[in-house]
Amino acid sequence: MNDSVPQSINQTIEPTNFLQGEVLLPGDKSISHRAALLASMSQGLSTINNFSESEDCLHTLKCLEEIGVKIKRSPKTISIEGLGVHQLKRPIRTLHAGNSGTLMRLMSGMLSGLPFPSRIDGDASLTSRPMDRIIVPLTAMGGQIEAHEHQFPPLIIRGQRLKGIKYELPVASAQVKSCLLLAGLLAKGTTTLIEPIPTRNHTELLLPSFGGKIVKKGNCIKLDGEQSLQGSKLQVPGDISAAAFFIVAASIIPGSKLKLRSVGLNPSRSALLDLLMESGAHIQINRQKVSSGEPIGDISISYSDRLLEQFPRHIGKSQIPLLIDEIPVLAILGTQLKHGLEITDAAELRTKECDRISAIVENLRKLGIDIQEKNDGFRISPGQTIRGGNVRTRGDHRIAMAFAVAGLISHEAIVLDNSQCCDISFPGFFEELKSIIR
Ligand code: S3P
Repeated sequence: MNDSVPQSINQTIEPTNFLQGEVLLPGDKSISHRAALLASMSQGLSTINNFSESEDCLHTLKCLEEIGVKIKRSPKTISIEGLGVHQLKRPIRTLHAGNSGTLMRLMSGMLSGLPFPSRIDGDASLTSRPMDRIIVPLTAMGGQIEAHEHQFPPLIIRGQRLKGIKYELPVASAQVKSCLLLAGLLAKGTTTLIEPIPTRNHTELLLPSFGGKIVKKGNCIKLDGEQSLQGSKLQVPGDISAAAFFIVAASIIPGSKLKLRSVGLNPSRSALLDLLMESGAHIQINRQKVSSGEPIGDISISYSDRLLEQFPRHIGKSQIPLLIDEIPVLAILGTQLKHGLEITDAAELRTKECDRISAIVENLRKLGIDIQEKNDGFRISPGQTIRGGNVRTRGDHRIAMAFAVAGLISHEAIVLDNSQCCDISFPGFFEELKSIIR
């Protein structure tokens, strides 16, 4: 691993009276990764506005530059002069995906179908995340990938001529689906994917903007290979997963009123918003429109006491894939609910940037919360108060931001170690938070 170990910076979050104002969100991370990858596979100029300045997405740009993609960056906008896949070239160095599972999995799909070898690696967290979920289907397409113990990065990819396959995804994963769609674009023949449970569909929505064709019928997605894509002009919506921390905080802190503009409202991402609204949260959505194929709108949130009584006691099964990134902040909400909260069928959380089930349980317990750990989730007992104290983020951005929300409602301050990990998805998170604390 080449990554230098960043110094751990502690961040103290004090209990607050209320939140008020407007939060500036980063561009959606999932959409930014996909837009950059598709633009690099296209012919002609692509302009991507509000591109996420997260560390994860900056890693995507660096990896693409390593394979010969010409990228111009200005604050929040990137331009990619696409020369089509045939102009991409063998990287001289190992590609570094940093902390980003999305980058490693999606880019491996693309690299598997390009006519050169490459090696892709990641930081300590990423090198312990399973890649067999992409290696197995990519191998069935004719790909050649070597991995540590057959599943862990670094991946050594010997680019091949791929062939389309029919594949039923064993895990509900948008990263696996998108990896195979990118590989399928380069393959001979048709790629057919069957999803057990729907997951985020940004790749499917973006492809037509690049002139690509994709057909979705029920849980089946079909894509013809050897498509030639054209550059596109895109506007990336605000990241709803970044918004989630503020939406939950404003909903549970009496007197709060927040506004978030141009937030992505794709139904495959907005499950938390839907759940909160169904449970009596005071949330209004205005100025709804469709931008670059994605629904967006402005969100206004204010405190609601009804929410704490009406929110479901249990979340599981088909709800989990659409809420997967929001479970850490849902756990903080769970501590305030009159009936407590049980999460099941969420074992996937153990394979995220850290073992998020274990991180949630360890930290909530340290803060005085009665919580039971399960293999596939946890159960938080009702009627609890967060005491305050030290939180071990494990370098996981969503754990850090969720426990920052906990700090706002705790009895005493919460100190987050390694707080700079928030830059992985939301550079400027603490500045935005401080600007609305009253
Ligand atoms: C993502 C998919 C999800 C999510 C991750 C981003 C994506 O991962 O947790 O933060 O952009 O496709 P899985 O596909 O592994 O569930």
